[in-house]
Amino acid sequence: MPRKILVTSALPYANGSIHLGHLVEYIQTDIWVRFQKMLGNTCHYVCADDTHGTPIMLRAEKEGITPEQLIDRVWHEHKSDFEGFHVEFDHYGSTNSTETKEFAQAIYRKLKAAGLIEVRSVEQFYDPVKNMFLPDRFIKGECPKCHAKDQYGDNCEACGTTYSPIELINPYSAVSGAQPERRNSDHYFFKLSDLRCQEFLRKWTRSDTLQSEASNKMQEWLGSESESKLSDWDISRDAPYFGFEIPDAPGKYFYVWLDAPVGYMGSFKKLCDAEGIVFDDYWKQGSDVELYHFIGKDILYFHALFWPAMLQHAGFRTPTKLFAHGFLTVNGEKMSKSRGTFITADSYLKQGLNPEYLRYYYASLLNGTMGDIDLNLGSENEGFIAKINSDLVGKYINIASRCAGFITKRFEGKLAGGTSIYPIERLQSHAPVLAEMFEKREYNFALREIMSLADEVNKFVDNGAPWVIAKDPAQSQNLHWICTNAIQMFRLLTIYLKPVLPNLANEVEKFLNIPPLTWKNAQSLLPDGHVINSYQHLMTRVDLKKIDAMIEANKESLQPMTESHSPARHAEAQQHAIAPIAETISIDEFNKVDLRVAKIVNAEHVEGAEKLLKLTLDIGEAQPRTVFAGIKSAYDPEKLKGRMTVMVANLAPRKMKFGLSEGMVLAASGDAPGLFILSPDDGAQPGMRIK
Ligand code: MSP
Ligand code: ZN
Repeated sequence: MPRKILVTSALPYANGSIHLGHLVEYIQTDIWVRFQKMLGNTCHYVCADDTHGTPIMLRAEKEGITPEQLIDRVWHEHKSDFEGFHVEFDHYGSTNSTETKEFAQAIYRKLKAAGLIEVRSVEQFYDPVKNMFLPDRFIKGECPKCHAKDQYGDNCEACGTTYSPIELINPYSAVSGAQPERRNSDHYFFKLSDLRCQEFLRKWTRSDTLQSEASNKMQEWLGSESESKLSDWDISRDAPYFGFEIPDAPGKYFYVWLDAPVGYMGSFKKLCDAEGIVFDDYWKQGSDVELYHFIGKDILYFHALFWPAMLQHAGFRTPTKLFAHGFLTVNGEKMSKSRGTFITADSYLKQGLNPEYLRYYYASLLNGTMGDIDLNLGSENEGFIAKINSDLVGKYINIASRCAGFITKRFEGKLAGGTSIYPIERLQSHAPVLAEMFEKREYNFALREIMSLADEVNKFVDNGAPWVIAKDPAQSQNLHWICTNAIQMFRLLTIYLKPVLPNLANEVEKFLNIPPLTWKNAQSLLPDGHVINSYQHLMTRVDLKKIDAMIEANKESLQPMTESHSPARHAEAQQHAIAPIAETISIDEFNKVDLRVAKIVNAEHVEGAEKLLKLTLDIGEAQPRTVFAGIKSAYDPEKLKGRMTVMVANLAPRKMKFGLSEGMVLAASGDAPGLFILSPDDGAQPGMRIK
């Protein structure tokens, strides 16, 4: 019985380009969907652009177009990027659709009828020039901790502290530059703290709907039954806002994250209408159709808590499973615009790089967990280039390119018949275990296994040495036999690689003169006398020059700074300008410094001192020490109390104007503003020696 499956990938925001980080997810999902389809299962894959919210509204305004014009343009760009990487959706929609709007409003009405919606007054920053409430990201100011300027309202990119916008020093609106006011407004809340939601979510996140790492995280977020950590979710935003209006609440709009996942339903509804699929079979409560959401680990909260709670209490089915993946780093680091590693999908394709290189490379790293993966573009001898050249070109393609020509030239393209040799049987018998690996999203294991099979086939070809026996007319039959078997095995490998390399598989199907390969085809071979077409080279090696050119093309110079990225760049620039390293010392010299874990039992201002704080430090001695530390500019003494840090315990005491200083605490600083004291990991006790 074929399974019925509905699959989604997260809906990309309509205010940015698709980049290689996004593609981890869409490629991962596409491979899985293609695999299901090859098995003969009914599998629908839908996605859409996530089009609502303040950033999109403001960006459109800046470009002098309407939000509708902006999202329409971006939709076409996204669609062509996905097509370029052979990501094949059954429907690619937009959350800005009638279907999504109707479902969002219907869900809201059901939640309201169930008593799960509450209105509450909320105080927020308001831009008096722009006449709008400001999301945290659109408020900037000085970091309350390190005093870096122009930091966002939610966290500081220079020192990494998170805070609420209210704590910013001299806040200003990033939209108009005006000083924001605090104003009250009614907001609509989804009552997640309601016992019904809590009980449901505790069950839902514990069952096998989540990967174990994700399930643990959710339990942590949920808190215990006696001490729930779930707070109500603010689902409304005030006009002006680009989104859907909340029924019977003029001037109030759904927060973008409310209608975003509803876009899965909206997009699927469009597919249903076009293809006569029954929507309710898939979404009615109790449906046994499988529903899977592929997502990044960063949006787990929305998908594992808000979304199932919405569905459950609005009378719809909940997802069968969430498949969360990790994040992409490039050359071991976060993607960076200044290093040129924030690579857009479009720029990759524009260099003429084969999209299937990237599909194969990602698949070779993906394993069904939430672990991060790295795109190593740094060297020809390892990572991306080496993997493609050695596996795909050197092992797989190599089989066909060494044998196909003889079939065409010597045997009129006809295959020999009646072979069932041990290596072929081995390849065929791998179909179930490979299927299991694809099913579990353990593509890395699948590809490793497939490549070891390719090694065996190459050994078979090496032993037969067709290029040698071709010179001896008496060996003609043997030559035919060897090349036929190699082609049969090349076909089997192609079946297994087809979910990952769909375009290449299509080329192979043309070359072998056969209909589209399915998974079942692995149980049969091409018949005696089957005629294949002449071989055209299927894939070339990765060209390092193209990789370099791509990185160059993605490099944004550090100057001039654009408004939206300056803080990040600023932080990045800081990382690179470090003071020269001091003269080398021996371990004995280092050991002379007695460093201890210290607990700050008290911290206070010192009257008349501009830079100093007076610290009382417990390092396990009978009497605590007093240390005057020059950290007043960076720390509020109240926040230091109770913290652990590191001190130099054998520094000669120093008599100061304000008293005796009995040691020194350590802090990091550089050219950029900011001063950062150290902390040991949890568990370190006062007085422990650091060495
Ligand atoms: N619009 C939301 C999703 C709404 S779903 C109802 C969103 N959009 S996004 O464009 O920021 O990200 C889309 C998907 O790409 C997310 O699942 C996200 O985790 C993934 N990725 C974005 N950057 C990524 C990496 N660097 N690495 C791996 N995946 C990444 O979130
Ligand atoms: Zn800071």
